[in-house]
Amino acid sequence: MKNIEPTLAKAEVNGLSNCRTGLFYEDVICGLSSAPKFLSSMYFYDANGDKLFQELMNCEEYYPTNCELEIFSEKTAEICNAIIGAGDAFELIELGAGDATKSAYLLKYLLEQGADFSYLPIDISSNVISYLNITLPVTLPGLQMTGLNGEYFDMLTKAASISNKRKVVMFLGSNVGNMPVDVAEKFCQDVRNHLSPGDMLLIGVDLKKNPKTVLAAYNDKEGITKRFNLNLLERINRELNANFDINQFEHYPTYDPETGACKSYLVSLIDQDVRINGMETIHFEKDEYIFMEISQKFTVEQVNQMAVKASFKPVGHFFDSKHWFTDAIWVAE
Ligand code: AVJ
Repeated sequence: MKNIEPTLAKAEVNGLSNCRTGLFYEDVICGLSSAPKFLSSMYFYDANGDKLFQELMNCEEYYPTNCELEIFSEKTAEICNAIIGAGDAFELIELGAGDATKSAYLLKYLLEQGADFSYLPIDISSNVISYLNITLPVTLPGLQMTGLNGEYFDMLTKAASISNKRKVVMFLGSNVGNMPVDVAEKFCQDVRNHLSPGDMLLIGVDLKKNPKTVLAAYNDKEGITKRFNLNLLERINRELNANFDINQFEHYPTYDPETGACKSYLVSLIDQDVRINGMETIHFEKDEYIFMEISQKFTVEQVNQMAVKASFKPVGHFFDSKHWFTDAIWVAE
């Protein structure tokens, strides 16, 4: 048996910049050998996780997707006019495009307006990119597009090498909230460093609201969020030949209205050992937790401050009717 040296996870990184080789096995072993233990929510999205997230988006309590869909469907023209600006040619780049349901509203309108642009969806999933390459030219005839399969920043660099047109980057779905605030700030700076003055970022951010509303979205009655979290343990069982007994872990979501941090944990119900890959043994004390995910909520003021810290100028917000979510427009300085 290999001996695993516990590495101390710094509280402020909460697992998001530590143990990020991008290799599933390495990151899992690293996170579960840390004190406290953690896993990266980046690994939630295998085929099963994708399905569970789809289910989540349709459940009553999970509001963010519906809010952002409302913004894209009700404020299409306003958003597009902001993007079109003076009318020069641009590239519309989407980080983590998924099925592009939200962006499709913009793409359709931009085509109708005869805007001079091409769409460059970036996704880490090759399935997503081949799906978009096949479906979008059919549903949106005339659309110029190039799907880019890979890591965000590698693909942003590639996008920059394709042309030197103005760039409009979209980072939707409050995905920025899956990073602790300091990591999110660094991420926005990195995006800025791939852009030129005048380029834009359209960023979707979930806002602070009644704490009960937030907590309920991450603690739905049907238990979809619970299954979504436990699926990562099952994924480790499936792909890394481990033997997690998911009945011995309990989903524990929290929301702190003061910091805006919504966090989820899986808590071990008993003293137990889990074997991974026939080599590593991970010990859990009763009541020991695995930190699974952060979904940070912001005030409008904090969104604007994040823009400034990353050398963007915050120029506008598009809100849903409840003001629960914003798609903010930032211009690179
Ligand atoms: C896909 C990152 C927007 O944090 O709200 C949903 C993922 N986690 N329920 C979010 C998620 C638990 C989601 N994002």
